[in-house]
Amino acid sequence: TARQDIGGNSMAAWQALREEAAGCTRCPLYKPATQTVFGEGPVDAPLMFVGEQPGDQEDLAGKPFVGPAGQVFDRALAAAGIDRSRTYVTNAVKHFKFEQRGKRRIHSKPGTGEIDACRWWIEQEQMLVKPQVTVALGATAARSLFGKTMTIGRERGRKLRLPDGGAAWITVHPSYLLRLPDPAQAEEEFGRFVEDLKLAGAVLG
Ligand code: URA
Repeated sequence: TARQDIGGNSMAAWQALREEAAGCTRCPLYKPATQTVFGEGPVDAPLMFVGEQPGDQEDLAGKPFVGPAGQVFDRALAAAGIDRSRTYVTNAVKHFKFEQRGKRRIHSKPGTGEIDACRWWIEQEQMLVKPQVTVALGATAARSLFGKTMTIGRERGRKLRLPDGGAAWITVHPSYLLRLPDPAQAEEEFGRFVEDLKLAGAVLG
């Protein structure tokens, strides 16, 4: 699909889209979730980050990447010299998918059906923001953006093209770094993540 001009970078169009997404019922995930977590950031951002789906804290706050994964993301952005406020941050799936275990809500991975149902929103965000560079954080984001399974280990560190022609990079999801049990490996993987972010962050000048 080619990038169409539907009035890119229009704040009013973005706000209308966000309001429409608040009432989304395209898949069943909206029922147990608190709210739609839409993307945030300047509508003319040159750099877009795409995560998987909101987590527990994002679901409650209504903002992407504010929980534990968001803290790792913020630390890595700082290390890469990227000002998050100049970037657009969103997710492939915009409702929190979880399993209730007692009082806790445990993250469950979105399936391809949910990724496909939610792709409509990310496509609208891409058409409005028209970022020069997009970063897929993890396999779910990559699947949503490229429309097929991408192997992170093979694709990271290389400049890729999205189906709409935009430049893109693939890297790991910040929660992957939180799950590594060995501190030395976690440190090393954090460093690789920062290097990946730097490649994409170059677009900010
Ligand atoms: N993980 C994500 O992929 N996105 C968020 O917004 C939070 C955690």
